[in-house]
Amino acid sequence: MESFPHDKHVLLGVTGSIAAYKSVLILRRLMEAGARVTVVMTSSAQQFIAPLTFQVLSRRPVYTSLFDPSDEIRHLTLAEQVDLILIAPATANIIGKIANGIADDLLTTLVTASRAPMVMAPAMDGDMWNYPVLQRNLSVLDGLGVHIVPPEEGLLASGKEGVGRLAPEEKILSAVLSRLNRREDLAGETVLVTAGPTQEPLDPVRYLTNRSSGKMGYALARAARGRGARVILVSGPTHLPCPANVERALVQTAAEMRDAVHRYFPETTLLIMAAAVADYRPRLRSEQKLKKEASTLFLELEPTPDILADLRSERGDRIMVGFAAETGNLLKRARAKLEQKGLDLIVANDVTQEGAGFDLDTNIVTLMNARGETTALPKLSKAETAERILDEIVKLKAGSRPKDRTLR
Ligand SMILES: Cc1cc2nc3c(=O)[nH]c(=O)nc-3n(C[C@H](O)[C@H](O)[C@H](O)COP(=O)(O)O)c2cc1C
Repeated sequence: MESFPHDKHVLLGVTGSIAAYKSVLILRRLMEAGARVTVVMTSSAQQFIAPLTFQVLSRRPVYTSLFDPSDEIRHLTLAEQVDLILIAPATANIIGKIANGIADDLLTTLVTASRAPMVMAPAMDGDMWNYPVLQRNLSVLDGLGVHIVPPEEGLLASGKEGVGRLAPEEKILSAVLSRLNRREDLAGETVLVTAGPTQEPLDPVRYLTNRSSGKMGYALARAARGRGARVILVSGPTHLPCPANVERALVQTAAEMRDAVHRYFPETTLLIMAAAVADYRPRLRSEQKLKKEASTLFLELEPTPDILADLRSERGDRIMVGFAAETGNLLKRARAKLEQKGLDLIVANDVTQEGAGFDLDTNIVTLMNARGETTALPKLSKAETAERILDEIVKLKAGSRPKDRTLR
């Protein structure tokens, strides 16, 4: 694990989950790592564990009330003093309140007042975890840059098996560390990220598309923003909220995506093409809805415009990164695409592998650079995969890139 930065003040928010006792272990681990930790408990959390436990172990007062008689405005002083807010475990309730800007107790009020990075580790029953409103709230928080450490599958307090167990301490600690150690190593860069699928209309109600959810591209946009870059996200149709402080241009077709990329290209210093752009589109688009007349309908398809084709001559020293989603012969195909498109780096994934590909929260990718060097990453969350891709890009920027961009 990375080393813990010196003299960091972590606010540990404990909420009313049966997993609240695990916060004691998290507190201990944070303190062993050298952090100063102030614990804030909701009133439900105190039904599960006493403030005294945290007070003794943290050797600091534990705060439980917004209206404690004191000579300071506690929620404002705490909000200002801390380097990071960790809420572990985070109940469905606290997630809903924070996602919606509700500030009705000490923890939610200080979150509203603080600009410190936030990590949340939800824990709850499987049915609560699958509740669509909870998932929508998590997407909102994710879009705002909150690092969510997802719960794991296993035996739950109800006695049922399901997803909802608080993530292991190790994972929570490592999320805290990566937020505290976050580098601003893309400051000054303008990163253009393409994301999501394209839709190629057939008639006014039908289109050809693919299974891309946009999650990988959005994770890259968010991660690049977190590292200090200006980020422009050219996105095909997706339900994902725009990440905070990212400029987004929504497009539908490959042709529109090409136009948007061309429009922003002059200001771009780093281009990451994570979108799953259609290779073909219907040659003719019917103005009227196609009727069910013949027993067989033949569709004539034509290639969509190649987004990169005319940009290669204007690229200068821009770094260009592409994706290859394949279903076989992964490295060979990725290498061919890297070479053919003149990319600096290609992110290859075999979408048939379990835990990789479209519409999942995890991915398994192999990075291949223009020197033919490959790095196979393990199964990681898309947020973590995005960070690792950016690490590789930062390395490429620092090193000398081969001028002819051909494989050696
Ligand atoms: C025995 C018991 C266990 C609970 N465990 C959880 C849990 O793990 N996760 C959760 O979201 N809510 C859980 N709840 C419900 C919360 O305590 C409840 O929604 C409460 O309002 C949360 O308040 P808080 O978010 O302010 O701490 C549990 C309730 C009980 C009675």
